[in-house]
Amino acid sequence: MQDSPTRLVLRRPDDWHVHLRDGAMLKAVAPATARVFARAIVMPNLKPPVTTVDQARAYRSRIKEAVPADARFEPLMTAYLTDHLDPSELERGFAEGVFTAAKLYPANATTNSAAGVSDLSRISKVLERMEAIDMPLLIHGEVTDRDVDVFDREAAFIETHLIPLRERYPALRIVLEHITTAQAVDYIRDANLAGDSRLAATITPHHLHLNRNAMFMGGLRSDFYCLPVVKRECHRRALVKAATSGLPCFFLGTDSAPHPRSGKESACGCAGIFNALHALESYAAVFAQEEALDHLQGFASEHGPRFYGLPLNDETITLVKRDQIVPRRLESTPVMPLEDTGLEASEWPVLFHAGETLGWSVNVDGQEETN
Ligand code: NCD
Ligand code: ZN
Repeated sequence: MQDSPTRLVLRRPDDWHVHLRDGAMLKAVAPATARVFARAIVMPNLKPPVTTVDQARAYRSRIKEAVPADARFEPLMTAYLTDHLDPSELERGFAEGVFTAAKLYPANATTNSAAGVSDLSRISKVLERMEAIDMPLLIHGEVTDRDVDVFDREAAFIETHLIPLRERYPALRIVLEHITTAQAVDYIRDANLAGDSRLAATITPHHLHLNRNAMFMGGLRSDFYCLPVVKRECHRRALVKAATSGLPCFFLGTDSAPHPRSGKESACGCAGIFNALHALESYAAVFAQEEALDHLQGFASEHGPRFYGLPLNDETITLVKRDQIVPRRLESTPVMPLEDTGLEASEWPVLFHAGETLGWSVNVDGQEETN
């Protein structure tokens, strides 16, 4: 066994699933993603959702304005599927390079998904078109049936919807987003090992670190509440094994999902964990623990672009084995003065790993070393 490295130079990674929000929150959180990631698949669940090419173009401009002028960052936009979206609008956005993919939210499955799809049969024309033009479908894979236990909703979605969907549209390129269960891991891995490279999954840092006990440690902890909800330890273990396996069907998607404090700490707290500031260090901690750092570059920087048919990034980023204490909340810095964003200080979101020490720090090559 080799000594574990103290510096790790990686091809610059991309984030294949992130919520950047809009307005003041966008200004507060987008710089963190743009600092580390070269590209990001930006989720369209704004209010109102991003359903047209014009809306996506305008949102992309707002994102570019929200990141530092010298950031080398490309937001990749997604269309929010509804029961009524016109396949031609989708195709036009894809052809014009505005939409990279389309996101399927089963109606009411998660934050801002009320306008989502009520029944897959209603979007058959859209799915046919996406299959024909090879446009990726990104899926929030949970059933919304109230009779199904919240911890079983992902596994039920695979059986009830994903398997028939893949039979009906065998050439459709699908990403099952932010997977949380051993059932999802097995399903994706088995398809991949059987030679199907059109099915993949993103995995978040928080689902690699947390099991469901986290939500109930000493009280009800909304900071650890996200959707799909974190599961039992056996599922977390299956996800860790999948992420660190080197298999090309698993790749990085942070699902960083900031909410203002008043949204998280209300009687009905919002789902979402904000991890953008330390996402790569968080993944690195898991890969180091598993002695699988040699698979981190594939997961973070190569499997995603290959799946999407996009070029690999040429730039590099360096992870240094250096402790850093994660602050409790997003903090104002001279580079990123949060006061200028218009987001009230009382609303600055709590960070994932708040108060913990992470053993790795990121140096973006070409930028000054911090600390
Ligand atoms: C996301 C959000 O807040 O937009 N929340 C979450 O818990 N992940 C929506 C989503 O991805 O489900
Ligand atoms: Zn998400």
